[in-house]
Amino acid sequence: MSRTKGPERERWSSRVGLILAMAGNAIGLGNFLRFPVQAVENGGGAYIIPYFISFILLGIPLMWIEWSIGRYGGSLNHGTAPGMFDALWKNPIAKYIGILGIFIPLIILTYYTYIASWTLAFSIFSLLGLLPEGRIADGITPAQYLKPFEEYLGSFIGATGKGIFLTPDLWAYIFFLFTVAFSLYILSRGVAGGIERLADFAIPTLFVMALILFVRVLTLESPTGADVSPVDGLAFLWEPRFEGLTSPKVWLAAAGQIFFTLSLGLGAILTYASYLRRDDDIALNGLTTASLNEFAEIVLGGTISIVSAVVFFGVAGAKDAASGAFKLGFISMPAILSHMPLGNLFGFMWFFLLFFAAITSVMALSQPVIAFFEDELFWSRKKSVAVLGIIFFVSAHLPIFLKGALDEMDFWAGTFGLVVFALFEVVIFVWIFGSERAWEEINRSAQIRIPHIFYFIMKYITPLFLIVILATWSYTELPKVLAKKDGTIWITRIFLILVLLGLFALVRMAWEKREAKG
Ligand code: PHE
Repeated sequence: MSRTKGPERERWSSRVGLILAMAGNAIGLGNFLRFPVQAVENGGGAYIIPYFISFILLGIPLMWIEWSIGRYGGSLNHGTAPGMFDALWKNPIAKYIGILGIFIPLIILTYYTYIASWTLAFSIFSLLGLLPEGRIADGITPAQYLKPFEEYLGSFIGATGKGIFLTPDLWAYIFFLFTVAFSLYILSRGVAGGIERLADFAIPTLFVMALILFVRVLTLESPTGADVSPVDGLAFLWEPRFEGLTSPKVWLAAAGQIFFTLSLGLGAILTYASYLRRDDDIALNGLTTASLNEFAEIVLGGTISIVSAVVFFGVAGAKDAASGAFKLGFISMPAILSHMPLGNLFGFMWFFLLFFAAITSVMALSQPVIAFFEDELFWSRKKSVAVLGIIFFVSAHLPIFLKGALDEMDFWAGTFGLVVFALFEVVIFVWIFGSERAWEEINRSAQIRIPHIFYFIMKYITPLFLIVILATWSYTELPKVLAKKDGTIWITRIFLILVLLGLFALVRMAWEKREAKG
């Protein structure tokens, strides 16, 4: 009996479940923490124009491309990029390029889960009233007001000490262990039985909590009686400014955010789409999830934290309060919320919605490795989840305990890697597999008509856009990263190289076995 057949491939159990799982994949910390900070740092209204252009020219086309590659691969029992690229391009090198589609999510997973565990910890701390309390005194500056909250986060994640190591609080480690165990448990229940059921519950709950906070924030008044209103907060982000349009930095930030928020360029969508049936629609389902993500990002994520920071600290103070995703989410927000009536409850909601956003993305980052083990090495689900668990538990100690590791991983996997991998996807699918066939795949069983202009966008504009981004990045950012002198950076880099080599060996082994069978 041939083992390559394997058991029947898992499938999403319903259309709503698929959309919620895909939305859970996309909606994450990126929407609520990364987007508002990026928008503020890159000039608010000036950022949003490149953001929308990137959404149309990169986000939407790549999203359809990834769904199509994934559904096509799934029909051949491949859930990850090595098998998918190998099927699309008959070249021995294709499967090795596909390694990026396992490597990138695995690396992001190791630090993203740790951050997810902070959100859970802070939600419970809020509820129990353990976070510092904000006290407004006459003449207090925003920096003074934020100080206790800053110290709280600093000691929780152990960022305060000197030397090369971080010294997190024991609770940080305990919450991390719990988050890992919880994720592995859900993953072990499978795609429909675990991931989909979690999303069915988590995503609607997240939207409800976010909408409550959204309404609350829009009725906020300045605690000092200063003359700022929520409208000033909205203007802070949305007032059109055009000076950023010619800045490569703003364009790179906007395009990078589109990748990150839609989970593009790293294999997470490929794997989820591999659990579609051959004749499931992707045109409409894909667009629906992308729209849900943009609503969560622009309307909810863009409003809650920014508007409250502006009303609370004034426009000048808000710039400082939003200087960094961790500062905005884990320092400024609890500081603001703690001052409201029912502050503990609102604080809980904020962090718990972040936790749901994050944990559903943790699922999406984990499943590629699991699918690789199941589909290419024919391991059982239990064994695949267990081995992933060990690899990811061990690797996570690097960002938990080594200063600078998180940033280094985020750069190579979460920023640079995405664009490289996306370019390979477009070239292999649209250019090598063929633009006619790719277009046919995308439109197969489509429930909406995709405007034909996207054919040209996918064929010419998207790859060109990606090449320009990569070239600019290599020119502006890469030298800075490579010039880092810090000795510990090399620990992280050597680790990354070892993971790549390990995956290379596994892919080689899988294909040798396959070829031996003929
Ligand atoms: N899109 C997620 C966010 O916005 C991050 C993510 C990337 C999740 C890739 C899964 C895969 O936070």
